[in-house]
Parts: sequence; C-alpha cells; structure tokens
Amino acid sequence: MFFTRSLAVLSGMLLVLGSCQNGPNNNNPVPDSREQKWWKEAIVYQIYPRSFKDSDGDGIGDLKGIISKLDYIKSLGVTAVWLNPIYSSPNDDNGYDISDYRNIMQEFGTMADFDALLKGLHERNIKLVMDLVVNHSSDEHEWFKQSRSSRTSKYRNYYHWWDAERGKPNYRYSLFDVNHDAWKYDSLTNSYYLHYFSRKQPDLNWENPELRKEVYAIMKFWADKGIDGFRLDAFGFAAKDTSFPAFPKGYEKDFMKYYSMVPGIHDYLKEMHREVFSKYDVMSVAEGAGSSFEDAHNLVDASRKELHMAYAFEGVDIAKAGGYSLQHFKQVYSKWDSAFSKAGWLSIFLANHDQARMVSRFGNDSPEFRDLSSKMLTTFIMTMRGTPYYYNGDELAMTNAGFTRIEDYRDMPTLNEYQHQLANKGDIPAFLKRIQFECRDNGRTPFQWDASLNAGFSTGTPWLQVNKNYTTINQAAQEKDVNSVLNYFRKAVALRKNNPVLVYGKYTIRDKDNPAVYAYTREWQGKIFLVMLNFTAKPATVQTGVDMRKAQLLLNNYATPAVTGNLRPYEAVVYQL
Ligand code: GLC
Repeated sequence: MFFTRSLAVLSGMLLVLGSCQNGPNNNNPVPDSREQKWWKEAIVYQIYPRSFKDSDGDGIGDLKGIISKLDYIKSLGVTAVWLNPIYSSPNDDNGYDISDYRNIMQEFGTMADFDALLKGLHERNIKLVMDLVVNHSSDEHEWFKQSRSSRTSKYRNYYHWWDAERGKPNYRYSLFDVNHDAWKYDSLTNSYYLHYFSRKQPDLNWENPELRKEVYAIMKFWADKGIDGFRLDAFGFAAKDTSFPAFPKGYEKDFMKYYSMVPGIHDYLKEMHREVFSKYDVMSVAEGAGSSFEDAHNLVDASRKELHMAYAFEGVDIAKAGGYSLQHFKQVYSKWDSAFSKAGWLSIFLANHDQARMVSRFGNDSPEFRDLSSKMLTTFIMTMRGTPYYYNGDELAMTNAGFTRIEDYRDMPTLNEYQHQLANKGDIPAFLKRIQFECRDNGRTPFQWDASLNAGFSTGTPWLQVNKNYTTINQAAQEKDVNSVLNYFRKAVALRKNNPVLVYGKYTIRDKDNPAVYAYTREWQGKIFLVMLNFTAKPATVQTGVDMRKAQLLLNNYATPAVTGNLRPYEAVVYQL
C-alpha cells in the first residue's frame, strides 16, 4: 500500500552480473566511489524517537529517553544516528508534519534536551543526521495559516493553490488521503490546495525563491548547531509542473514516474548544495533514488554537486506477504552495485520506520530460525558496498506486531485506507491480513529493553502496544548471552569498521544461480573477503570457485565451526582469503 515504488525504467541499463569491471581506468583515474569519505565509512543507526525510550511516563519516547541510552548506542559500535523528525508537530504523521522547524516537539522535550543529546553523541564520537521534511509542512505551520488566510498574503505562494473559479484542478493522487484526492477545497479563499500526503501536509512551492531561502536558513540553523547530516524526506516530489496538466487515466498505479524528479529538482539541489552543503561538513542522503539508475546518478554523482548518497527502494520493496525470490534479490543488489561501481554512492538497508520488521519480511521469525536468519541478514547489510542504515530494534530481531484489530493500529495512512475500504465496500478481512504483514506500525512498536512492564519502554501506557514477545526478545536478556543477536550485531559492525575492504571493495557475485545461497567476494588493496549467506531454512551447498586454502574464518552465526562448501539453515560466514 505505502510507497510501492515501481522502478520500471530500469531496462536499458547495462547489467554486468558477476563481472563488475570497476577498477580505475584512464578516463577516470579516481572513480568517486573509491574516494574515501567519513559518510561512506559510517554505520548509521536509525532511531524512531517516539518508540525508543520514554523518560517521563507519558507513553511516548523522548529525547531524555534517548540520552539515557547513549551508552547502549555507543556499545553497538555504530558511528552515526539518524533521528526521525523531532520538530514541533501536531503529529498527524508522527512528526512528518512540521509546524515549527526551529523547535522541538513538546512530547519529545526541549531545545536544551536536544543540545544535550547532540553533545552526548559527539562526546562518544557518534554523528547526528536529522530528517529534513520540506516537500510539505504541517497545515498548522505559521506559513500555511498565513497562506490560507488570504489570496494576497505574502505567504500565498509558499504552497500550491488553485482558485476555484478556474474550475476543479486536474486530478492528483494523494498517497495518504482518505479519498486519495490530493486537492483539498478550502472555503476561506474559495481555492484548492495540494497535498501529496495527508490534508494536514500541504506541499510547499519550491518554485518560490522566498520559500527556498527560508528552507536554507532552517538548514543552516541546524548545521550551525553542529549536526552532521540531513536526510531529505520525500524530496524527489518537491519540483512540480505548476500548470498541473492532466495525467493519463490510471497514472496513480505508476505515480512515481509523474511525481518524482520533475524538471527543476536538480536546480534546487544544486542551489541547496551551494547555499548549505558546500559550507559545512554535513552529509546528505535522499529518500529514494528516482525511477532509474540515471535519476539516481543525477542526484548523487560527486561531480554534480547535489547530494551525497541515494537510498534506493527497489531492494527493500522485494519482500511480499507470500515471500520473495532470492534470485530476484541477488539480481537487484548486483545491478545496483554494478551501476554505482564508478560514480555515486548508495545506502544499504532492509528496514526503516516505513517498513514492517526486517526479520519478519526477509528472514524467518519463527522461534527456531529468528535469531539465525536475523544474524544472516545483518551480515548482508554489513558486508555490502554502500553505507549501512540499520533500524533500531532489528539488532534484537524484533518481529512484526501481529495486530488483528484495526483498533490496535495508529498509522494515519493505514487508518485512512481502512475508511476508504469501508466506504468503497472493500474486502476488510483481506485488508486486515495485508496490513498485518506490511503496515508501518509493525516496525514502530516500542523498543524492547527488558522483561518488565511495557518492556521497560515506559511506565505509562505506550502510544502503540508493545509486542507481546517482549519477555523473550529484549535487550537485557541478550546482553547476558554471548551468542545473542545483539552481540552478533556488534561483531558484524566491528568487522565492517575494521575492514575498509567491506566499504570500498569491488563486489563480485559467486555461484550466481544458486537458488538458496547468496555468495560474493569483496576485494580492495590486495585483501579479499568472501561472504556466503544461506537464505533458506534447509542445508545448502555452494561452489564459489575461489581458492579456500588460506581462508580464515572471520564471522559465523553458528557457535560450532562452519564446514567449507556446506551451509546450515540461514548460516552466514565471512572469510578472508
Ligand atoms: C517519507 C517518510 C514517511 C512519511 C512521508 C511523508 O516517506 O519516511 O514516514 O510518512 O515521507 O512525510
């Protein structure tokens, strides 16, 4: 339902599976993908503040809660934290509807708490990446209040308005609206305003230089505080053809093609680079990567001076309720690696706050295989090229929530879609089954700290129910077990941090048609690492064709030693050759 990014325009690109010829060549002596940068070497831990740790018993996680867990975050070995939005917000979409970009959400704390958090992170050598939500604001932002107050307001053109006497504007699909209509009529000035997301998230008008200036000033405000990066939320949608021409009927099935990377976007990003990024040592990551490799390169190739890294969804979108094919998975990750072997930089992730849980979608969350399959997926993330983004709770193998009643959900687009289904006589049991697998709330249940009340997340009533399995799956229990998922995560992080070959090394897929095993080598400056991952619940064999005579085992998710050529269910091994 949410953001099934169809990346159909991938054909026409050269796929060289298994033979990435990405060494330096004469035309391009230092490919930008080999240039060493801190943000390429970073390991990003994503914190969903609302669900991480509540310090004051109101059932909502907060900044003081995160501060109380800084030593835990440090103990993971991660080198950067990405925080979902923490700015003032009426919380229609959990902070992705900002009403004041220079203030902290009341439920999360104060600016003094923020300053203390930033200081605490920096004292531990951890960088901070903030979410920048500027495709839209909240309808409760002062700009929007002024904008809607009169057609002649100075702020009118901060948003997209369509005067009703011109007739109804051409249909625009809204991802979150109950009726999926992105135009909302406002009687105050007899006009419609545009909202690609909810009615409470009006789209900002990037054509307006005044608006752009305001955004850069906001970015500088945070950069001057010393933050280390920005994640640009839904920014691919920012540029629009403001004549709002008619789109073909049914275009919403492929809306990305119409909404993303509209001409103008690169001018805005180049300007943003000039005004902000070039003046600070901050990294920038796009949400998404457009609809083709070309789009993705145009966003992030270093020579273009726009953003640093793309965050492509084709991989994370593979997992479906009925399962997924490993061949497909291997193809997708191989072709993206190949396409970015010389220029540009990618992110590697299998989950975030918009997805259900990693182990439930890509692994096997049954008690028998939960730990093993989760460790195997962690090994994948930590051994691929690209900057790893790891979602909080996955280091414990937290699973989907399994809610069965609509009353248990809090996610606004899910609740809106439920109303939509009811109004259109949709198949409600099928809808409930679908969201049980894919709703974003699955990944947003409170962090499971220990076996006490509410998993140690809050002394009050959590805003979203704690997963019932918290007495078994929790941080305190896993600290005590050397073989826990948590302690394996720490080992995998340390392996990546100590071996730049895992960051910069050339990737070559091995035994490419093996239906059960994903095997690849990484090579850099004379070092060769071999990674073998069994993605199934059955034993499997693998023939990589590499010389194993001097192989040294570096990481294994089983306590007893691996046997070359054979992999146990969900076994993950990393060798140095
Ligand atoms: C992005 C965010 C998502 C949010 C949406 C609207 O996709 O990741 O959580 O709902 O933008 O801001």
